[in-house]
Amino acid sequence: MISFDEKSGIFYLENAEVTYAFSLADGILYHLYFGRKVPHDDLRYLNRSAYCAPGEGMGENSRDRELPLYGRGDGREPMIGVTSENGNLLCEPLYKGHRVIPQPAIPGMPSTFGGETLEVTLEDEKKGLRVVLSYTLFSDTSAVTRTCRLENIGSAPLTLTRVYSFAFDLPAVPLDALSLEGAWANERTPERVALHHGVWSIDSKQASSSAILNPFAAFMTKDCTEDAGEVWGVNLVYSSSFRILANVGPHGKARIEGGINDFGFSWHLAPGEVFHAPEAVLAYSDHGLGHLSRVFHDTYREHLIPTRFVKKPRPVVINNWEATYFNFNREKLFAIIDAAAGTGIDTFVLDDGWFGDRNDDHRALGDWFVNEEKLEGGLDAIIEHCHEKGLKFGLWFEPEMVNPQSKLYEAHPDWAIHAPDYTPITMRNQYALDLTRKEVRDYIVSVVSAILDSHEIDYVKWDYNRCVTEMYSAHLAPDREGEFAHRYALGLYDLCERLVVTHPNILFEGCASGGARFDPAILAYFPQIWTSDDTDAVMRTRIQWGTSLCYPLSSMSCHASVCPNHQTGRTTPWDTRATIAHLGATGYELDVSRLSEEDLAAIPAQVDAYHEMEDLVLEGDLYRLEEPYSGRQFAVELVSKDKSHAHVTFMQLFRVFNCPPRPLKLKGLDPDALYRVEEKGLTLHGRTLMSAGLLIPVDRMKDCTCLTYRLTKV
Ligand code: DGJ
Repeated sequence: MISFDEKSGIFYLENAEVTYAFSLADGILYHLYFGRKVPHDDLRYLNRSAYCAPGEGMGENSRDRELPLYGRGDGREPMIGVTSENGNLLCEPLYKGHRVIPQPAIPGMPSTFGGETLEVTLEDEKKGLRVVLSYTLFSDTSAVTRTCRLENIGSAPLTLTRVYSFAFDLPAVPLDALSLEGAWANERTPERVALHHGVWSIDSKQASSSAILNPFAAFMTKDCTEDAGEVWGVNLVYSSSFRILANVGPHGKARIEGGINDFGFSWHLAPGEVFHAPEAVLAYSDHGLGHLSRVFHDTYREHLIPTRFVKKPRPVVINNWEATYFNFNREKLFAIIDAAAGTGIDTFVLDDGWFGDRNDDHRALGDWFVNEEKLEGGLDAIIEHCHEKGLKFGLWFEPEMVNPQSKLYEAHPDWAIHAPDYTPITMRNQYALDLTRKEVRDYIVSVVSAILDSHEIDYVKWDYNRCVTEMYSAHLAPDREGEFAHRYALGLYDLCERLVVTHPNILFEGCASGGARFDPAILAYFPQIWTSDDTDAVMRTRIQWGTSLCYPLSSMSCHASVCPNHQTGRTTPWDTRATIAHLGATGYELDVSRLSEEDLAAIPAQVDAYHEMEDLVLEGDLYRLEEPYSGRQFAVELVSKDKSHAHVTFMQLFRVFNCPPRPLKLKGLDPDALYRVEEKGLTLHGRTLMSAGLLIPVDRMKDCTCLTYRLTKV
């Protein structure tokens, strides 16, 4: 899979679908190709034709490098920025050697696992800089991951001002960029724009991956659709301030790069020290976005999300947040537990408000002590009641935060992130704690562990309800404040190692005001993430569609909630809410003790329906059929890997009068096999279902109603 041809000096990285190649000449690595798999010797031709002899204009200096540098003739964006003590920005690390090894972990940071890694070492002795470029391939998915590390091998300090994880160049064809933009309760909407000469970029400056722009981008040919055309996707395994860019330079070629956001970033690298960039996952598809998504999904399920959870049935939860908000007591919770018992719901999750004097969102974050006044008998009474009723128990925390009105803040006001001379702003009435400080992390670990270790807890929802604003730590030297955003991420990962990894039997769900920190780094610890605070079924078709561009359905936590919906005021049928929530790790989030008899009685069948398709949610291939943004309909299909069964979800968003039944063309089936379509009592060939389609009676479907179809190979 990874080879080096000494004669031509070409490195080949190949998997079942993709070739990534670069060549070595005069100590410099030149990017050759990243795309559809090609016979590898042919790339010698590319190598020769890319070469320009000295004297032919600027050719020899502006070739595409694997490590694009500043100040050596290439006017485009460099991948790294390293300043010497004397202020010199230049560097030119040259090839020293390479090795192929089992994929190593990145110290202090989450990453994919289980691959084979090529490490190429480059050194600039004058600068005292070693750069190691890493490329990882897997035997069962066609993703390529990249990272790099910078080592100070000299005797003087260096200052890093940019560390991107990867760079590669695409051929000179007009391309579009697609990103996932959003906001609180409206996360991850695909936005496609044309690339232009100069720089297109997306970023976060919030020390979190953010709801505004996800650390994912795709670059696609103009003809690229869901099922056809070429597309390159990049996704950073990183939860802090990031940047992904496309720099279209002379002759229309696009250079794609990404990694830590260099805005405000600097890192002091003392002699002997090493700096690790976060990992980037790169994927290529010549069958459009649908296939690209499936490559990401497979990569994350096989090589990122904790194996102990990834393909195991997830708890079907009842969460009390939208049922009660802060307004609950033991009796209220017991009533919810009692109503949920016996319906198939198997886990009760106690959300915000169980600790300190937390009766609203103004106080008590940081005081992780049970409020026994509010909860007579404490958590034990609730847990015992859950167990008596056959339910497991889950608990909400927001470990990274503190309210100014809290015992923790009274004792340690300096633990809240703040900068000199400026009053820190509150967001949701709270401050973020300075995770760059070890004593702060130690405190969090001790108080959260005290609760986890003294109670029978099967599930934790780890929330994060504001971003970091004033990037500053009283404990960093003035010339190290530029390290803050990255050190926050390292602090978060340290917390995850010490709380999540040390409690392997607890399933941790990520959350950040819904989906404001939905990224692969979080998935390396938390198998699922609360997708959005918007639980309206119509909005969820959009949010879940956008999220699925690179994240598997099983990573999205999705709950059926009450109507009129608390966020949009919209009323949708009960079965629709459950059906849309089945396209992820499902659950409920409403006061089940106040449901009508009819709605309560419907839950067991809903949960059964979910369990019937659960293997597809956890392991199946997702095919997106009808996008919801045009507002007419939404349809997705899940197909088992062996193509033996499938599940189709269709939602009529908006009924149009006098509209005949519509054929919905399925995808991903075995064309020659016969499939029984349970709900229609029909048996048809996969080819027919994919070409003529499945006739949907849209003429008879009201607004916001769903139909589901189960297909089984006969
Ligand atoms: C934001 C989350 O997304 C909600 O589900 C809920 O847990 C609240 N925070 C609690 O404060």
